Amino acid sequence: MAEAQGRCRQRRRAKAGARSGRKLAPRRADKLDASAATTPNPSVRLAPMRAPTEPTTPDAAVLTPQGWAGAPAQGLAFPYMAWAHHESQRTRSPLSNSGVPKAPSSTFESLRIALEHPSQSALPAFEAAIAGRLGVAPEAVVATPGASGGLAAVALWLFAGARVAVESPSYEQLRSLALRFAKEPLRLPRRLETGYDCSPSDLATAFDSARDSSIPGHAFLTNTHNPSGAKLPARRLRELAGVCADRGGALVSCDIYQEFLPEAEREWTCRAATNGVTIGSLTKAYGLGPLRLGWVALGEALVHRRHELRDATYLLWVDPPTTTLAAGVFALQQLDQLGAKARELQLESKPILDQWLRTSPHIEAFVPTHGLVAFPRVRGVVDTHALAERLVREAQVDVVPGEFFGAPGHLRVACGLQPAELKAALARLSACLASHVAEQGLKR
Ligand SMILES: Cc1ncc(COP(=O)(O)O)c(C=O)c1O
Repeated sequence: MAEAQGRCRQRRRAKAGARSGRKLAPRRADKLDASAATTPNPSVRLAPMRAPTEPTTPDAAVLTPQGWAGAPAQGLAFPYMAWAHHESQRTRSPLSNSGVPKAPSSTFESLRIALEHPSQSALPAFEAAIAGRLGVAPEAVVATPGASGGLAAVALWLFAGARVAVESPSYEQLRSLALRFAKEPLRLPRRLETGYDCSPSDLATAFDSARDSSIPGHAFLTNTHNPSGAKLPARRLRELAGVCADRGGALVSCDIYQEFLPEAEREWTCRAATNGVTIGSLTKAYGLGPLRLGWVALGEALVHRRHELRDATYLLWVDPPTTTLAAGVFALQQLDQLGAKARELQLESKPILDQWLRTSPHIEAFVPTHGLVAFPRVRGVVDTHALAERLVREAQVDVVPGEFFGAPGHLRVACGLQPAELKAALARLSACLASHVAEQGLKR
């Protein structure tokens, strides 16, 4: 999980501790295709029957916070990140990273610290470069402090006084922002059984379960999905956006993991729907997280509100760092080269993870087409925090417990190691999993 990638190796085992009230421009709802929502996905391998003790993700529409017993303090907004910084890389086989390793520092060897005001040229140049890349107008793009800053800026801009349906399982920041800023934080289920599809009818149900149906309804998700890696096609994005548009809302998607897809297969949400919002950065697929540079790109119907989004970013940074913006433009010119590691890992290591997902007897899994992560359900295991701890101790493998994604009973397993290392790590993981599952069975 590059959430914490490399940040903690040395500190191993250290115990850690405006928006306007105006509604979005109304647009015609696209026809919903509710039947497609429940069609089982052919790349999902499921057990014929579920053991009765297996955890199921709750279907209630209300979004609730989920604690972590080992958290260094109570009431944290983002306990996953405390874990990610201090606990996620304790072994020689970190299968907990959702992104590639850091790009070499030599990438920016030629840069000097720039002290011109960013608005002089660096900010418009960066935003124009992102706009060109996404195929939107430069007026549709706002630079943010990483995708994290993009998510926070959108929440500051849109969520107060609104219904916000957050995908579940989800990256914890999405749930936390909705819980803090939305008037009605709601739960939008994504299920293993349907390949982690996101159904328009589930979205409508979530919105309809809110106490106040007069307020805007936004959907908040990731595409491709963290943690499962599932990709929503443009048709589905349009359907979801239609459900939001009917409620005067936006479809907000962190599209950060789409950088792992071949260019022709990327579906930027801001392009798929006029009320779509794309959040992005160069962190995951290019190893450029330390630049702390990201963006938000708006669909056509939202561009006239860009000043409100910019205003929200002023709460996060008044001026973006000029050198960082220049480095961003420089990096965008060599993305092909910077993407080599992601291509290599997907070509050489991902098939090993895929094979493990398809054949391991103790899991049920959806096998995503791209990216480095998958989110298998472990048969008969409820406490995946405890299982992940045991994998650290006994198998020397780091994975992310599903609890951090609001889905106990799952593990997020990545494939960001060299093939031989990965094979060995998965073999150790399998052996430990087998003992754990057998012991759980004996306890029942
Ligand atoms: C869905 C999602 N969005 C945003 C981030 C953070 O992105 P950045 O490093 O660009 O702030 C992560 C990190 O794991 C993520 O999984």
